[in-house]
Amino acid sequence: MPLKTICTIVGARPQFVKAAPVSRVLATSFREVLVHTGQHYDYGMSDVFFQEMEMRPPDFHLGAGGGTHAEQTGKMLIEIEKILASVKPDTVLVYGDTNSTLAGALAAAKAQIPLAHVEAGLRSYNRAMPEEINRVLTDHVSILLFCPTAAAIENLANEGIAKGVHRVGDVMYDALLHNLVLARKHSIILKSLGLERGSYALATVHRAANTDDTARMAAILNALGSLSTRVVFPVHPRTHKLIQEAGLSVSNNVTMVEPVGHFDVLILQENANCILTDSGGMQKEAYLLGVRCITLREETEWVETVQAGWNMLAGVDGIAIRNAFESWHPAGERPALYGNGQAAGEICQILSRELL
Ligand code: UD1
Repeated sequence: MPLKTICTIVGARPQFVKAAPVSRVLATSFREVLVHTGQHYDYGMSDVFFQEMEMRPPDFHLGAGGGTHAEQTGKMLIEIEKILASVKPDTVLVYGDTNSTLAGALAAAKAQIPLAHVEAGLRSYNRAMPEEINRVLTDHVSILLFCPTAAAIENLANEGIAKGVHRVGDVMYDALLHNLVLARKHSIILKSLGLERGSYALATVHRAANTDDTARMAAILNALGSLSTRVVFPVHPRTHKLIQEAGLSVSNNVTMVEPVGHFDVLILQENANCILTDSGGMQKEAYLLGVRCITLREETEWVETVQAGWNMLAGVDGIAIRNAFESWHPAGERPALYGNGQAAGEICQILSRELL
């Protein structure tokens, strides 16, 4: 029997990390066609991830980065529709909550090709976030919904979605187990930045709510500047743009660096005294690595990290951020909230069963 074809659509940094472990397993029983939308296109935002994850080059690259949300999503949608018409996959597989996710989901749904969504069911309940719109719409046109957490299953149930829902654990945990070993072997980031374990905090900021609002960004930079530690801050291109354009000042204890690859970010996280971030993936990685996380948002999709006591929501409130950094030191248990690191295998088994 010919192999069934899965068309995987990725485009942004975290999707390369999530897709890699799944693609490795899929290769054993499916033909996979890999589409890169081009949402992230700089070397440090895309190519380095393909190299580190040992992913083969994409079969299609759409070059659809930049522009407004509509321009970006529209361009992707048009190109993905053409690819689906020629490849005729048995399933389309999308990850997470980016514009690439939504474009892949809409193209598949309109072409009546079954859609599978990895990281289904996450909700911030904040519709001002572009990611929230992308998630909700993607889940509602998915046939298979692979949920990482109990909260995700409950969120879907509250929206009347129960069919096709599977709790498989989090593919980012699979990725972490695989990549951390390699990162420890290959990354030289601590040496090149002159860092000792526990002597610095790691900060990242890229969410539109923070990077499109000068007052919020200034508040974050002030808060980082007030901490009694060195802060390493890999700067996303959009964040860099705002800091430059608004002429925001950055305190001496904050070292701004170019975006770093996945191995480097894992090592920076593992050895930090604290992680301050608005990234969803890093909230989970912090938890899995046992590093406290101060989240620079008012809400999170990863509520269980907060409930477990390892993540604190501080928004951009300078006093809350400083107080948390100086006096909050979680040390409690870290239950296995994200499965057992075998999510990719579970996903592959379910796909095999469903596609036969
Ligand atoms: C996107 C996702 C977000 C995800 C994040 C991961 C959406 C709506 N947002 O946010 O959910 O958490 O990726 O990092 O899909 N840029 C470059 N070089 C690049 C990539 C982007 O200069 O390689 C510039 C773009 O031109 C754009 C800005 O950065 O002006 C934002 O990029 P975009 O992909 O639209 O959103 P992200 O903020 O990266």
